[in-house]
Amino acid sequence: MSYNLLKGKKGIIFGALDEKSIAWKTALRCHEEGAQLVLTNAPVALRMGEINKLADAVKAPVIGADVVNMDDLKKLFEESMKHFGGKIDFILHSVGMSLNMRKGKPYTELDYGFTQKTFDISAISLHRVLRTAWELDALNEWGSVVALTYIAAQRVFPDYSEMADAKALLESITRSFGYHYGIKNKVRINTVSQSPTRTTAGSGVKGFDGFITYAEKMSPLGNASAGECADYCVTLFSDLTKMVTMQNLFHDGGFSSTGVTVEVIEAMEKAAQ
Ligand SMILES: NC(=O)c1ccc[n+]([C@@H]2O[C@H](COP(=O)([O-])OP(=O)(O)OC[C@H]3O[C@@H](n4cnc5c(N)ncnc54)[C@H](O)[C@@H]3O)[C@@H](O)[C@H]2O)c1
Repeated sequence: MSYNLLKGKKGIIFGALDEKSIAWKTALRCHEEGAQLVLTNAPVALRMGEINKLADAVKAPVIGADVVNMDDLKKLFEESMKHFGGKIDFILHSVGMSLNMRKGKPYTELDYGFTQKTFDISAISLHRVLRTAWELDALNEWGSVVALTYIAAQRVFPDYSEMADAKALLESITRSFGYHYGIKNKVRINTVSQSPTRTTAGSGVKGFDGFITYAEKMSPLGNASAGECADYCVTLFSDLTKMVTMQNLFHDGGFSSTGVTVEVIEAMEKAAQ
């Protein structure tokens, strides 16, 4: 159902890889709510070709950009403003990648060259995107930027490895840049801390099946789906949440506030017998 929450708004969506991607579902929901979009992803992801299906569905151009390349980002924003015929109202940063996890390196044996790349792609990229928008004066007043994160930034989930540190940095950049952009242009910047979700990036975490089932049992409402995350992002891009900024917002069915559930205790009791 559409409420026309984003009628007349223009947004850039980073990170739609395939139908499972949180960014993919968010693009579809933003389109339903009346937004005009530009889609972007790394050139290597674009070569898979999947994104063209989404582009057709939401009637959006696809502009390639590696989030760690400032020339790519500048071109992306310039071309987007040309396409929209004006400035941008919202941005979804839905980008994450761990080189150490991909190469099977455990947390205590990190390759620091890989770690730097992980931080750059998964966290500093948000600073790069915001700085590009800032320098080009590309965002309208009351613009809204959302980046996706995970609760491993606050608590230890051992197999999330260096991505926990990357997410902590991402959340910090959200607060720091949120301060400056709020003062300059009333732009708001938040992170959404999403439940574990079956996507390409999510499934890269070791033991993901156990992990997602545990989270489901530890959340009074159950795990939040990618589609529900898309709904939440729409509200944050809308004018109904104008005074929310510099926050890490949990979208996790109550997981972050739950110490233990009866279901988990009963499973432990069974295991102890
Ligand atoms: N899936 C989960 O369990 C979960 C939970 C909480 C938060 N998140 C976060 O949600 C976001 C989206 O992930 P997803 O789960 O939809 O998985 P996904 O694999 O569909 O999306 C990750 C995206 O990052 C893009 N990307 C990687 N390197 C890039 C680069 N150099 N330049 C541009 N784009 C690049 C990929 O192409 C891909 O589209 C990530 O930040 C992820 O950490 C995911």
